[in-house]
Amino acid sequence: MNKRILVTASTALLVLNVGLGCSSETAAQPAPAVAPADPPAPAAPTADAAAEAKQIFATRCAPCHGANGAGDGPASAGLTPKPANFTIPDWQSKVTDDHIEKIIAYGGMAVGKSAAMPPNPDLDGKPVVPALRALIRGLKQ
Ligand code: HEC
Repeated sequence: MNKRILVTASTALLVLNVGLGCSSETAAQPAPAVAPADPPAPAAPTADAAAEAKQIFATRCAPCHGANGAGDGPASAGLTPKPANFTIPDWQSKVTDDHIEKIIAYGGMAVGKSAAMPPNPDLDGKPVVPALRALIRGLKQ
């Protein structure tokens, strides 16, 4: 009789233990993996940098790239390959922000493109480079 109670009690304890084991296991489970977030959007350029980029684009870039970035500036006539048309969504989706900023600072040769795309060492590391990249992104139609 006593023995029976003991067995019953220990069985109950066992059930309790297993139950507890389960619930504590559930609690200890790592949080479900969160899908990696999209890379943070690049910060918007300051108004000053944006204004400078606009001015630089009009004076230094438009002769080849065209005032609207369509690749049809007057100096593009003699170029092979011709500058890409920045307004085309397909072009926009093919190039990375990093590529755009690199080619602006270091020129076409530095990224395996035409040497006709000149480097702009005086702009390297300045806020106007990301601002020019943002301007080019904004030309997408
Ligand atoms: C003398 C003409 C010329 C000038 C000036 C010039 N570019 Fe270019 N640029 C080119 C050519 C040509 C290419 C295309 C290179 C290729 O496709 O191989 C190019 C390519 C580029 C690309 C990359 C396009 C791609 O498809 O990968 C960007 C971005 C760019 N230029 C931005 C600028 C900016 C911004 C300026 C002004 C600071 C500028 N360029 C000034 C001729 C020029």
